[in-house]
Amino acid sequence: MNDARALAAQALDRIVRGGVSLRSAFAEVAPHLADARDRAFVSALLHDGARWWLRYDAMLGRLLQKPLRGREPVVHALLVLGLVQLAVLALPDYAAVAGTVEAARALKRPQLAGLVNAVLRRFLRERSALEAAADADRLLTSAHPAWLVQQLSHDWPDEVDAILAANNAPGALVLRANRRRATAAALAARLLAAGHAASEHAWLPDAVVLEQSTDVTALPGYASGDFSVQDGAAQLAPDLLDLRDGLRVLDACAAPGGKAAHCLERHTLDLLALDRDPQRLMQVRDNLARLGLSAQTVAGDATASVDWWDRRPFDRILLDAPCSATGVIRRQPDIRLHRRAGDVTRAAAEQAQLLDALWPLLRPGGRLVYATCSILALENAQQMDAFLARTSGARAVDAIPSQFGRAAGVGRQNLPGGGGMDGFFYAIVEKEI
Ligand SMILES: C[S@@+](CC[C@H](N)C(=O)[O-])C[C@H]1O[C@@H](n2cnc3c(N)ncnc32)[C@H](O)[C@@H]1O
Repeated sequence: MNDARALAAQALDRIVRGGVSLRSAFAEVAPHLADARDRAFVSALLHDGARWWLRYDAMLGRLLQKPLRGREPVVHALLVLGLVQLAVLALPDYAAVAGTVEAARALKRPQLAGLVNAVLRRFLRERSALEAAADADRLLTSAHPAWLVQQLSHDWPDEVDAILAANNAPGALVLRANRRRATAAALAARLLAAGHAASEHAWLPDAVVLEQSTDVTALPGYASGDFSVQDGAAQLAPDLLDLRDGLRVLDACAAPGGKAAHCLERHTLDLLALDRDPQRLMQVRDNLARLGLSAQTVAGDATASVDWWDRRPFDRILLDAPCSATGVIRRQPDIRLHRRAGDVTRAAAEQAQLLDALWPLLRPGGRLVYATCSILALENAQQMDAFLARTSGARAVDAIPSQFGRAAGVGRQNLPGGGGMDGFFYAIVEKEI
């Protein structure tokens, strides 16, 4: 079976009911798709399907006399995608309806083809009333779960609506030039010459912004390691670490290796890239190899340094901690479907453990950079306040560029979309001598 909409419906069902990430679900179906056009279409369906699931799943409740979700979950997902094609992707009505009916047949559900047709046609007839009813409800307008809206309203009472809107607006594609191969200016010029609307970032020295999303692996210079895909917010790490050639650096949560690679593109370092997930550590090795870089890579738990530390202190430690990922929902819309309130408290406890376990590994006078792609205070400003309060000899350093986000406790917080970047938090701490 290679019907794009049918494959997308199966993948969306895996995301929604199976808890599978969008990236993995897409990777599973991509080999069955006929060409690059189908792959781009299914990618768009999955991103908008996950992004708007909560809105159009609820709308289907009004459109269906008997719920399908329990009996025919894949056809239910297909119908959500039908609504997404009409309401979000704005495909021509005929193409969206006929294609979705055909997909029901491809899923071997010919008996439901009439129902799919009838539901989508009813949506077209009642569209304005249905959309208006959804717009009257904040959760359905933003398609975010209640716990997250509540948490964001608590942490960011004045910004919550802007955050929800930014989470529904996918960002531009940002590349990081591999300084060992090309400057950002040279990369931007090369991409422009190849017909892509590319420009240097206003203040990030290695960043190139592409207005149109594209298959980066097909861009000139990808295979030879001239650049990587990395949001601007993630590109601050090497500067905040205040690196110099020869320093001994620990990247304690390194996979897939974006920040480790960036540090190595800038400087010749004695860098240990640690991650507890051996599969993800493979990605670090692959990325470093593609970029022509090298580092020691170790699979291990950062909180159990007896297993991997040789007792030589580090000059710099980067703790890019596991987190709720609430700052990157605009790029990974499935996060809103997978996270639960309890995940945030669990992540915060893990981050505190990581900070406490890594601090003794830093030499006096050394620097630790704490980073998350979360926008929740518990994981960020509050986390660092608590760490500084319980850790003697730890001193916060105010050296994060003021262009980045806003002050948040001892660090700085960027909110999603701010400066064209993801939601991200950084704090810098030094160990007194
Ligand atoms: C936010 S990601 C890191 C992204 C990475 N720094 C980059 O720039 O590409 C967090 C990583 O932490 C790893 N991790 C979580 N808990 C860990 C632990 N206790 N020890 C080591 N790695 C851990 C996860 O496997 C995950 O790969």
